[in-house]
Amino acid sequence: MKKKIQFTETVLRDAQQSLIATRMPFKDFEAILPEMDKAGYYSLECWGGATFDSCLRYLNEDPWERLRKIRKACPNTKLQMLLRGQNLLGYKHYPNDVVRKFVAKSVENGIDIIRIFDALNDVRNIEVAVYQAIKSGAHASGTICYTISPVHNTEAYIKLAKDMENMGVSSICIKDMAGILSPNDAYELVKALKENVKLPIILHTHCTTGLGPMTLQKAAEAGVDVIDTAISCMSGGTSQPATETMNYVLKESGFETGLDANVLKNINDFFKPVRAKALDSGLLNPVVLATDTDALTYQIPGGMLSNLVAQLTAQKKMDKFEEVLLETPRVREDLGYPPLVTPMSQMVGVQATANVLAGERYKNISKEIKAYVRGEYGKAPAELNPDLVKKVLGDEEPITGKFADTLGDGFEKAKEEIGSLARSEEDVLSYIAFPTQAEAFFNKRKEKEENTFKYTVKKID
Ligand code: CO
Repeated sequence: MKKKIQFTETVLRDAQQSLIATRMPFKDFEAILPEMDKAGYYSLECWGGATFDSCLRYLNEDPWERLRKIRKACPNTKLQMLLRGQNLLGYKHYPNDVVRKFVAKSVENGIDIIRIFDALNDVRNIEVAVYQAIKSGAHASGTICYTISPVHNTEAYIKLAKDMENMGVSSICIKDMAGILSPNDAYELVKALKENVKLPIILHTHCTTGLGPMTLQKAAEAGVDVIDTAISCMSGGTSQPATETMNYVLKESGFETGLDANVLKNINDFFKPVRAKALDSGLLNPVVLATDTDALTYQIPGGMLSNLVAQLTAQKKMDKFEEVLLETPRVREDLGYPPLVTPMSQMVGVQATANVLAGERYKNISKEIKAYVRGEYGKAPAELNPDLVKKVLGDEEPITGKFADTLGDGFEKAKEEIGSLARSEEDVLSYIAFPTQAEAFFNKRKEKEENTFKYTVKKID
């Protein structure tokens, strides 16, 4: 019997988020959706992450309506979204009732699979979303944010996977957002997870450092069940490995992928002009297409490195770059080795820069780091530096429970606040997630309708 492996196509979410800042309007991919529905994907990652914010902020689209339209055009393929646990699609912790409502509405509007993660791998921050996903009949995929540190080893990842299995998730995803998971480590990790949990294992990586395709291949050899890839013209660089390439290699290695290569070609042909347009307009910066191995040297994600450079350049302090690079892992250690994923990567980078520029460590401590030390983000993977804790908290006790449990309900309050501008519960959720952007969108929507109405009346006259 042939070994089986399946593919999640990311072009509509992570690939376009990584390459073109999530600026692909619905009309740019609408026409290819029926074809994508025939490709034989495990799932189509098409919602969540930054797509929601981008719809409201830049594209003047209702994200919920986009989801319903994709659902309608792809009745045969599972639709997948990325959710930041208790943070939903933003960076702050939302009340539990809001998380439940958001998840329930996502499923109601067409989502089948919800990949749920927490930046600190604190399972308490994903459990409300996981339970609601299961209750709503969706597939909850529990996520391991992959990072490298003295406390992030195979045993720790197995424990995390088992905790999520006990919560009732239907699969485990290894999320290598920085593209630093090496082929051999992927092999070991996937094998260990397969031996210790009974669930399908999914691997998500990026090509940033060039490891991506090799990492996926070794993971396949270790028995990974699903891999994330992007249609070739939207693959590589900070995006995922190419769907067609991985399909070719894995089929040749004796795997059954379920993908139709002819359909994949049609999909790629469709996206070629979309890519060309993005290159022309400057939206697609060739820099993100290049292989950048700095993340392997510094153990710092590529995106974080470029942020540090931008920060120091703006302050005309690039001469301090090496010092900041040395300070960054020290700050991370003081904070108990958080994975360097948003928002932790920004928080650690900003604090390391402040420490170097002030000439004194923790002379100035950012608001976010203070909240982190208080325990508002969840439990750190390891002990925090006691001196830093004392400096921030003094005699105050850190929070040991879940921060969101200290928040009251939020949905009804927001509903009242936005009033008649919101026409559905989905609108209220958009408002809760991105208040300013959603309100601006609702106002534009209203204006447009009033104008259309005037025009219609005039025409009838
Ligand atoms: Co990603």
